[in-house]
Amino acid sequence: MMGSSMRHPIDSEDIWRRVDSVPGWLTRAQALELVRLVRLTPQANVVEIGSHQGRSTLALALSDPRAHITAVDPFITARLFNGPSVRALLLDNLETGGVLAQVTLLTMRSSEALRSWTSTRPVDVLYIDGKHDVVSLLRDMRWRRHIRHGGCIAVHDAFSSIGVTLGLAMTLPFSRTVVLTHRVGSLAVLHVRRPQVGERLRFLVHVPWFARNVLIKILLRLGRSTTAGRLGHTDRFDPY
Ligand SMILES: C[S@@+](CC[C@H](N)C(=O)[O-])C[C@H]1O[C@@H](n2cnc3c(N)ncnc32)[C@H](O)[C@@H]1O
Repeated sequence: MMGSSMRHPIDSEDIWRRVDSVPGWLTRAQALELVRLVRLTPQANVVEIGSHQGRSTLALALSDPRAHITAVDPFITARLFNGPSVRALLLDNLETGGVLAQVTLLTMRSSEALRSWTSTRPVDVLYIDGKHDVVSLLRDMRWRRHIRHGGCIAVHDAFSSIGVTLGLAMTLPFSRTVVLTHRVGSLAVLHVRRPQVGERLRFLVHVPWFARNVLIKILLRLGRSTTAGRLGHTDRFDPY
């Protein structure tokens, strides 16, 4: 059997160096968690919702040169997003990172991609980082019907965006097919399997972390970055 270093020739530090050259929203620990999740399945079939300039797309693709990534993004124009021009930046970044051939880019909303999804191969890893309101999160969670049993879902901003947190709070305690196992910052890691007794309420453990992040967001909007710094937040962006 081949050793893991042979199967995954790019080491974590090299992956992070390349990922960190692309602007976007993903910490080092979160990038390395995505790498770990992709490497759980040889030649993983990955769907990413919300690629932007490709920071997370690179992490997913560099994890395993045999993994395939379907990247879905309509490139909306909004406060932090520059609209259609971002598509060219994404393609450039994927080419520079040497992963363009591994990625199929669908320039459309995740709900459209879901409707037109024809792949018969089950998804191993779903990464959700698209539109952050509650309705969109609930829609994105509908992708789980294409995820194989034992596969996983990583949700960015799960404990830092009110819409995403609310959507998960409406889903996880009642789900018979998805379990929250842990979080990395505000990246929630869910596994597709039947929850055991008690696992449904694990979400509650992370409510204090969510409350801290909401407080930091309020402080940043009030211009109180020094106070936010005392809570350990030194970034100009909202916590993630
Ligand atoms: C926070 S950014 C993604 C950041 C990226 N994952 C990274 O690592 O930097 C959110 C992205 O979601 C995209 N988006 C917005 N609505 C979407 C939708 N309905 N389906 C898929 N993507 C969407 C936006 O165009 C934007 O590029």
